[in-house]
This record gives sequence, structure tokens and C-alpha cells, in this order.
Amino acid sequence: MELFDFLLTTALTQRGLVRWSHHRGLKQELYLRKNSTKTRSPRPILLLNIGQLLTLSSVSGNPGPRRGVELGELEIIEDAAVLCVGGKIVSVGTTHEALSDPWIKKNRKRLMEIDCAGKVVLPGFVDSHTHPAFISPRLVDFEKRSAGATYEEIAEAGGGIRSSVENVRAATKSELAAKILAALQQMTTQGTTTVEAKSGYGLSVGSELKSLEAIQLAAAQWPGTVVPTLLGAHVVPSEFKNQSQKYVEVICEQMIPQVSKRKLARFVDVFCDRGAFSEEDCLRLFAAAKRNGFQVRAHVSQLARTALANLLAMNPVSLDHVDHVDEADISQLAQSSTIATLVPGANYFLGIKYPPARRLIDAGVAVALATDFNPGSSPTASMPFVLSLACTQMKMSPAETISAATINAACALRLEQTKGSIEPGKDADMAIFNVRDYREIPYWTAANHCALVIAGGAMIPSHAPPFGAYRIALL
Ligand code: NIG
Ligand code: FE
Repeated sequence: MELFDFLLTTALTQRGLVRWSHHRGLKQELYLRKNSTKTRSPRPILLLNIGQLLTLSSVSGNPGPRRGVELGELEIIEDAAVLCVGGKIVSVGTTHEALSDPWIKKNRKRLMEIDCAGKVVLPGFVDSHTHPAFISPRLVDFEKRSAGATYEEIAEAGGGIRSSVENVRAATKSELAAKILAALQQMTTQGTTTVEAKSGYGLSVGSELKSLEAIQLAAAQWPGTVVPTLLGAHVVPSEFKNQSQKYVEVICEQMIPQVSKRKLARFVDVFCDRGAFSEEDCLRLFAAAKRNGFQVRAHVSQLARTALANLLAMNPVSLDHVDHVDEADISQLAQSSTIATLVPGANYFLGIKYPPARRLIDAGVAVALATDFNPGSSPTASMPFVLSLACTQMKMSPAETISAATINAACALRLEQTKGSIEPGKDADMAIFNVRDYREIPYWTAANHCALVIAGGAMIPSHAPPFGAYRIALL
């Protein structure tokens, strides 16, 4: 932490600035000293005149995922203010409370002040399922699908995931990193500050390691937070045709241990579906992942129903897609701590049936939303678009979509202690939308109303004011 921030933090704590916070149990000094921003500590930021601040703080004090009616509770403060120091949120309350604080009055010139002019502020989106480690769009697949072919027919005819492998294998790490960084930047412009990024188009030990290193390289140049996932088990590569067990063995015995040794991923993912890996393969891969210290997640029931009971017994952090689930699957999911991550961008792009979001939520399943950004089934980096699809195609309420894309998505990455809500102690990751009412975020279809993004307490470069500025007003 920079000396200035340290002094400021100490002063804030001693002077009780937190009086205008709406939240309990503050231990600012502790967490502010654990400043985790990658670069130089950003200047403290005071956001004022926020029309609606969606705090997503838990009414019941439950730190876990929101289920049932709780999913629709956003805990909105009107005419709000937020103070961020050392990359963390320090105080949350009304503008009046912030401006009446004697310390703020005295030190106002030393803060970066952002006049939000009545706009909406929410936690930066957590996109908990993306595949950005690819080189090219799959335009031939796209054209074939517009002509009526299905995703599976295209894959069987040599397109699909396997057709993204060749140029990933041929690419250098920095070429791949540049593509990943471009995707991350697209995501930030639409309000995303945390991204789970999977490998999965290398499908060999060397190319999967290269993909994860490229993710790491891109992450180091991006102000948000990236959570890397090994998806060596995306499909069986062509050289292992009819020998899927041999490939599973390579993943279990070589890929997973090497990724673990080099600390290149936090999760191991498996595509457990028709035409990819079986339930038996998935259980074997999960076991190897756990032996090597990883938490697990899987793609399930996208193309056909995947039996969930045995997978759930392995306590996956998240099961994603869940398009073809039956009542028994839904009740098993509801009783588990696993998040069901819905990715309606893929249903939209492939023109296939949407997951039964209403039944899942009403049964008490913890639901998250993500883009599934990838070249084959969901080439969108836009969380607002995903929220819009969730409202119009899956009958989620606008409020439910916001919780699913922030706090529940943070739970899907096991980041609920630091991400997903605007509460003292959490990372200062916020998106400011140029709208008066949060429901406009999913309402304005295929539009981008994101005006400013703050990640780790810093304004992202494309939005940052000129060097030396200490006040900006959003018009
Ligand atoms: O989540 N289902 C598997 N994986 C991706 C598709 C990847 C691709 O087609 O390139 C998905 O939809
Ligand atoms: Fe996916």
C-alpha cells in the first residue's frame, strides 16, 4: 500500500468515517492492509450522487448464494455514496451522510471524486464461465447453422470445438494472450470486472499449458480479476479418436499434475455431455483434480441429459448449462451447495431450448448467469445482453438477473468474500450505468450503457480521467 493510502486509511478508521456506512463488522485496517491491487495503489475514490446503488448486501446476513425470493433482493440505496481506499470499499451510505462527514469535508480535495449525476451503480459483473483462449471466430460453423445444421452435426462433420484446435496449437503464447486480452477488454466495457477464463482449445499437455500461461499473461495486463480454469476435457482431440480413455489418462496423469505444480489454474472443468465425456470419465477426472488440489466444475446437460447425482456427490462448485434437467435433477441441485450457472447466450446463438430458470429458482437452486463467451456457441462478451435474454427468454426478473450475475456468480468462483456486492471490506469493483433505473440494464437490448468501470479501486484506462484530475462529473 502506498504511504498516502496507509495514512488515509488509518485516519479514516480513527476518525470513525464509517459512521455513514450501513454495514456492520468493519475491520478496515485489517483488510485495507491486505491491499491486493496489481499495480500502484489507486487514488482513493468517492462516488457521489448515485441515483440507485445496488449494494447486493445480504438482508439475512447470509454470505452464501441467494436462493428463492432472496435472489430478487438487491438492497438499493438511493442518492448514495461509496468511498474506496486502497482498492477496497470502505464506506457505503447516502450522499448526505458522506458530505456531512467532517473528515470528508477536510480531505475532499485529496480524493478522486466522481459525481454520478443520478446514474445506477452496481457491483462489477462476475462472468463466471468464459472460453477466451482461442484465435479465430468459427464463421463456417455459423454459416452452416444459419443454413439449418445443428451444433452436433457440425461437430461430427469436422467443425465444432476440434476445428478451433489447430490454430491455437500453432499460435505463440503472446498471440494467444493478445486475443484473450482483447476479449477481457470487451467485457470490461460492458461492466464486467471478474472473469473465469478456461483453456480448452489446445487439447494437448503443451497447448493447454500454453493456453493457461496466455490467460495469466493477459490477466496481468488487465485491471480486473481473472480466475483460470483447466478445460483439457473439452472434447477428445482427433489424434485420440476411438481412444478416449487414453486421453482421459493423459489429462489425469500429466495435464492436471503439471497445471497444479505450476499453479496455472484454480478449477478443473469437464464437458460432460453427449459427444464429449461420459459420467464415468467425468468422475475419474474430478477425482484426479481433487487429488491435485483443484476444485471442480462441469458443463452438463447442454445437448442431452447428464445424470447429476454422482457428479453432485463430488461437490462441484458449479454445474453449467443445465438445459436438459428433470425434476429429480432440480431437487438434487436445490439440496446441494453447487451453483447452477445458466448461459442463455449459448441457447440464443445455437437456437436451442433455454434452461428452466423459473423452476430452478423456485425450487431453491442457487442460480448464476454467465456469457459462456466462446467462438462456437456464444460469441458475446456482454453480460447486459445475457441479463436481457434471462428476462425475456427465461422469465427471470431484472432483479434476479443482477444477483445471478454478481453475488451468485462470485459464489460460483468461491470469491464471495471479496466480490459480488458493494459492502465495506470487499474489492472496489463497480460498474456505473448511464441509466436512472437498474431495470434498464436488461431492458435496452443489445445496447451498451456502461459509462464507467472501477476495478480494484482504479478507473479502467479507457475511462480514466487525464493525469492529475481530481474530480469528474458524469453527464
Ligand atoms: O460451453 N459446451 C462446450 N463448450 C462450449 C462450446 C465451445 C465451442 O463450441 O467452441 C460451450 O457452449
Ligand atoms: Fe462453456
